[in-house]
Amino acid sequence: MRISVIGCGYLGAVHAAAMAKLGHDVVGIDVDERKINDLQAGRAPFFEPGLPELLTEAQDTGRLTFSTSMADASGAAVHFVCVGTPQRKGEYAADLSYVESAFRELTPYLSGEDIVVGKSTVPVGTAERMAACIAQAQPNTVLVWNPEFLREGHAVKDTLAPDRFVYGVPTGEAGRRATKVLDEVYAAPLANSTPRLTMDYATAELVKASANSFLATKISFINAMAEVCDAAGADVTALADAIGMDDRIGRKFLNAGVGFGGGCLPKDIRAFMARAGELGADQALSFLREVDAINMRRRSRVVELTRELVGGSLIGKRITVLGAAFKPESDDVRDSPSLSVAAQLELQGATVTVTDPEALSNSKDRFPELSYEPDMASAVSKADALVLLTEWKEYRNMDPKVVGKLVSSKKILDGRNVLSPKTWRDAGWAYKGMGRP
Ligand code: UGA
Repeated sequence: MRISVIGCGYLGAVHAAAMAKLGHDVVGIDVDERKINDLQAGRAPFFEPGLPELLTEAQDTGRLTFSTSMADASGAAVHFVCVGTPQRKGEYAADLSYVESAFRELTPYLSGEDIVVGKSTVPVGTAERMAACIAQAQPNTVLVWNPEFLREGHAVKDTLAPDRFVYGVPTGEAGRRATKVLDEVYAAPLANSTPRLTMDYATAELVKASANSFLATKISFINAMAEVCDAAGADVTALADAIGMDDRIGRKFLNAGVGFGGGCLPKDIRAFMARAGELGADQALSFLREVDAINMRRRSRVVELTRELVGGSLIGKRITVLGAAFKPESDDVRDSPSLSVAAQLELQGATVTVTDPEALSNSKDRFPELSYEPDMASAVSKADALVLLTEWKEYRNMDPKVVGKLVSSKKILDGRNVLSPKTWRDAGWAYKGMGRP
């Protein structure tokens, strides 16, 4: 099948390569020339495990090309819209300008029976509005809203073998036809018994918003428990293990620490609150305000704990922050808790060095005032305290004896609760976790 993918960011680039892997003939389109040049040369424009291999494999088949021209979408039977919906400056609501312009610019290149598939995360009601725009120009073109649930760092697997497909479709024959076409696109994963659910547009849009809200709530729940554990002298990791054994609760997404960041959860819960307000349902989501507040308090708590760890004042202290990405296996630093903490520590008088295996270049663009050191041994050298904020494997597996020889003072704050307190204390370190005695 001939497919176009509009927007080649984290979502679109992986989607385009994955669709080619499934056997389709794909063109990926983006206005960012640098990104398109990279992709066209088989280079991933960001760090995502497995993507470089997938790009090379797909391009070797000749079924994957990239372009900056929307005109190259013409001739495709299915068009995926994968552009970003960031938070609007100074507001909670999502900025839909990229979605709106993608639809506006794509419409002239649609022909009769095409299917347009929206994958971007949008406020409920957007699909209905976009469908009306398309219908004016191309009455036989059908829009499907097919939210994406991929996680950065696992994007290739999540795209090729997702937990489920959700199709938001119009009623009647149009919806049935679009479902059939999208089933052909996803034939391989569907044959592997991936569940596929069809529903109306609004429900499909809300599935995505509520899934991310639930995940954010789960993380803030355990972080709230960490606050109580701190006050009571209890251990939140043991608590999470114990409650997680109840199938109804589950252990996943119950890791307390510095909290969630990234380009999705923070802005999605805010956009959801904003949209609920417009719909007159703001009370229903007022708990998300608390979810957000608990999450932001984690960052201040890390700063506070670091100050305590170094003896009450950060002024003149050399602090090394381990990890800059919002999570491991990613170079994404959008709303990264690590960088926000690093900047706070620096503002409060510490001399901060940030290290990360993949995210330093993006970090420098966002926080040029911080010092960066790619080599971990050099980064920790002569530090008065280490603060682990992104749980990359190399930090989880650090040997306290080896690292102990490099630092000036053996003090560590484990902002992700991934180190063994006993091992570190036995090696002579002052260890502090988050919600751990
Ligand atoms: C999230 C969702 O998990 C995806 O399903 C969704 O498709 C995606 O947003 C999106 O909307 O595009 P992602 O932002 O890649 O995916 O990252 P997550 O794995 O959800 O992690 C988000 C943040 O929560 C990270 O900062 C992570 O460190 C933090 N986290 C996660 C915790 O603090 N504790 C946990 O137990 C789990």
